[in-house]
Amino acid sequence: METSAIITPDQLMTPAVFADPYPVYLQLRDQTPLSYLVPPGIIPGFDEALWPWALMKYDDVYSALRDHETFSSENPRAGQFGPKLVLIQDDPPRHTRFRRLVNKAFTLRRVEALAPWITGVANELLGEMGAGEVDVVQSYTIPLPVKVIARLLGIPGEDYITFKRWSDAFLAAISMPPEQRAQNLMEMVAYFGQIAAARRAHGADDLITALVEAEVEGEALEDWEILGFCILLLIAGNETTTNLIGNMLNILAERPDVWQQARKDRSLVEPIIEETLRYESPVQRLFRITTREVELSGVKIPPGADITIFYGAANRDPQAFPHPEEFRLDRDLRNHVAFGMGIHYCLGAPLARMEAQISLNSFLDRFPVMRQGTAPARRQTATHIVFGFRQLPLVLNTR
Ligand code: HEM
Repeated sequence: METSAIITPDQLMTPAVFADPYPVYLQLRDQTPLSYLVPPGIIPGFDEALWPWALMKYDDVYSALRDHETFSSENPRAGQFGPKLVLIQDDPPRHTRFRRLVNKAFTLRRVEALAPWITGVANELLGEMGAGEVDVVQSYTIPLPVKVIARLLGIPGEDYITFKRWSDAFLAAISMPPEQRAQNLMEMVAYFGQIAAARRAHGADDLITALVEAEVEGEALEDWEILGFCILLLIAGNETTTNLIGNMLNILAERPDVWQQARKDRSLVEPIIEETLRYESPVQRLFRITTREVELSGVKIPPGADITIFYGAANRDPQAFPHPEEFRLDRDLRNHVAFGMGIHYCLGAPLARMEAQISLNSFLDRFPVMRQGTAPARRQTATHIVFGFRQLPLVLNTR
């Protein structure tokens, strides 16, 4: 086996890198695939050092995502970082069956039907927010996606603060004490268990009922699968969308000329969203395990190796995107891998795009001026998986 450079732990698993991973990608991308160290104890309950392989080049990431037979999502270690997730941590044939069933319930029609309701919530949140300097994370980017998922699942929107706490607990494998995290996860499981049972007894016009009723060739989902899927949506659909909208507003606050252009020409809304997804990808890392030896960029990776896919690094690869460090609206905009690729391609991509579109249009309608606030913007540093703000003060003027 060829040897590869081994880098030090401080380069990939520190809060400073979670807050801004881009300088490290610039430094390391050309040397990847390489294996890096996750020191013992960094992930609670996991006291062995791990040496996962980092994939950062666009071509390597693309190949791994397309080859689900070699790069399995069914990582036996997944359960050690939290409850194993359905679908996203399944391989075929389980994945195929499950995805077919949820595709039937999570239809474009169901998503599109939500548009007027989402527009109403966006306007309500903006109305409550007012103008002047505001932290848009607390007042807008967190509540909107949580309320949308709650609505989709048929759960009261007022519970969104509890929802947010559960979803944070799942992602905060690194920053939250294990007992507190376990407590949150148990609450979440109990809550969704009750809802699924209630919908089986009495249907409603929501996604959980559609899941309860979905059948492919006479096969239905079991209770634990429905529960698992609700938990997955809560986790996969919240912080990701929060980060997309936050990253996008910050990028635009830094570029008043683009803001003014977009106010006049709304055909720029879609390219702004796609370029934000590439430029500051909300999901930075997810995981695979190799089922056989495989060669990427001339480097042999053994079977059974832990793999970290760096979506955000691939999206800044100059081989795929000329001048990747520039935010540009005139590129080929749909070849980024911010929503993944292949069989695990994001189920919620149309919903996330719609939430971003409604949000951006609502902000553009209301605020002729948007700029950075005087209070500091703070990136999240609790997890290596996502990239976004925990505080983003912006000055929003209605005149
Ligand atoms: C900007 C927002 C979002 C981003 C950047 C994002 C990103 C991703 C990525 C990268 C994957 C692929 C995972 C892999 O390769 O293993 C994925 C899968 C998934 N996403 Fe999203 N996501 C977003 C929003 C949503 C929303 C709103 C939902 C649902 C309401 C959702 C539900 C899912 C599900 C269920 C999967 C698993 C699909 C499968 O394994 O077949 N996501 N997402």
